[in-house]
Amino acid sequence: MKIKNICCIGAGYVGGPTMAVIAQKNPEIKVTVVDINKERIAAWNDENVENIPIYEPGLSAVVAEARGRNLFFSTEVDKAIDEAEMIFISVNTPTKTYGIGKGMAADLKWIELCARQIARVAKEDKIIVEKSTLPVRTAEALKSILDNTGNGVNFQILSNPEFLAEGTAIDDLHNPDRILIGGDSSSKAGKIATQALVDVYASWVSEEKILTTNVWSSELSKLTANAFLAQRVSSINAMSELCEHTGADVNEISRAIGMDSRIGPKFLKASVGFGGSCFQKDILNLVYIAKSFGLNEVADYWEQVIIMNDHQKRRFAENIVKTLFNTVSGKKIALLGWAFKKDTNDTRESAAIYVADYLLNERAEIVVYDPKVKAEQIYADLDYLGSRNPEENRNLLKVVEKPYTACKDAHAIAVLTEWDEFKAYDWENIYNCMLKPAFLFDGRNILDRKKLANLGFATNSIGLPAVQMSKEKKLTSLATAG
Ligand code: NAD
Ligand code: UDX
Repeated sequence: MKIKNICCIGAGYVGGPTMAVIAQKNPEIKVTVVDINKERIAAWNDENVENIPIYEPGLSAVVAEARGRNLFFSTEVDKAIDEAEMIFISVNTPTKTYGIGKGMAADLKWIELCARQIARVAKEDKIIVEKSTLPVRTAEALKSILDNTGNGVNFQILSNPEFLAEGTAIDDLHNPDRILIGGDSSSKAGKIATQALVDVYASWVSEEKILTTNVWSSELSKLTANAFLAQRVSSINAMSELCEHTGADVNEISRAIGMDSRIGPKFLKASVGFGGSCFQKDILNLVYIAKSFGLNEVADYWEQVIIMNDHQKRRFAENIVKTLFNTVSGKKIALLGWAFKKDTNDTRESAAIYVADYLLNERAEIVVYDPKVKAEQIYADLDYLGSRNPEENRNLLKVVEKPYTACKDAHAIAVLTEWDEFKAYDWENIYNCMLKPAFLFDGRNILDRKKLANLGFATNSIGLPAVQMSKEKKLTSLATAG
């Protein structure tokens, strides 16, 4: 079966880039990405391709190539469902904020709405592809809704989780480590559906990288991959705290263990804590699933990854207060970076949100600079926590357009995202315009500590001994302060 028409429900961080690449690599397939969010679709259709709603290196070029040719963005969900033979569901599956499983389980409300809409609209057989990250056995629930509320047509459900990471999405999509497709290999229709999706990817991915498994393995592999990745970050972050107490250097440890081919060098960067829309949500979901089967030891094991991450974010903020002579009240602290990692404008679960909230509770005056995140997003992130009213957030925290404005007259700077541009700043100039002693907290270990110390900064990095400013500078700054 050759697919000619694809619909993707959800034009977000996954649906948008993934479908753009599928359309780019399969010019003969019409790909329509639909969403109920009108502004998002309007932005995807913006005449100026640089205004698409997601910042992702290389994405605008792919959209420019395919949009209007065989890639379309639309709010006409029913029409796109009706026309397509294959429908990807790529809607959000956040942690539940109410009812049973609150704070743990994935909220499948949007998934179910999609299933009901597809069932209502579909007049011909359809292949449904789970692109969203879902609890294991969700395909069963989807099938039940589709079969019981549909018009008597046949639905084949495939699981095809997405492994792209934000900031490198286009490269990850062009050169994936693997494509995973879970399908029903016991039926002819299941095999045909699986092969149809294999063919879509085979346009640019070599067949040995396209794995086919049963549906449940595919669904659970996605949660497992994210749990393993996050676990590595929490593991190195746990060691970073021990390093700070012993004089060991976490960067040297990462290098030493990463050269063991059984461990490997990736995902061993100590940080202020992992963020992003996936790791926490997916591990909490895994914990919830394990508990629902009564597997308490399994649940506790994975929950520890989150507990460690929360601890890492909190201790970074606590260290700022402690180092600034136990009070930051009324002190200006510049935060460089708000996105959860570099090269994205996504801020979901970013460590910066929690560090800022902690410091605001200590009555600091915060100034934020991020090269890609807009002020309204930063305020929305803080308001969502509900720690104080929106007016207070806007009074106590300012967002500026230039890094040097953020750092002027600051008591301290905290680097919270590893944007490359931070490394290239004129740090001498920044030092000169700060209050003294000039403290710098590098939550990503990206800056040259020795150079900063020579300039006069007192630097704190993750998992490394604190570096004091040079003696000469110390005397000068004490004299200035006095
Ligand atoms: P997102 O919030 O950026 O996008 C989801 C979109 O779905 C939104 O624009 C929303 O308006 C739309 N939507 C919701 N219900 C709809 C409906 N009934 N009809 C039409 N549109 C609807 O989310 P995302 O980051 O793209 O994530 C989507 C899924 O992919 C999640 O399950 C997530 O766990 C998974 N995932 C995300 C990433 C990532 O890096 N962000 C990576 C791999 C997997
Ligand atoms: C993750 C998975 O990597 C991806 O496969 C999945 O599809 C979605 O979730 P993403 O959250 O976009 O991707 O980015 P990722 O590169 O995994 O980083 C997640 C967080 O961990 C970021 O906050 C990052 O800064 C942090 N991190 C990552 C570290 O602190 N140290 C590391 O060594 C690696």
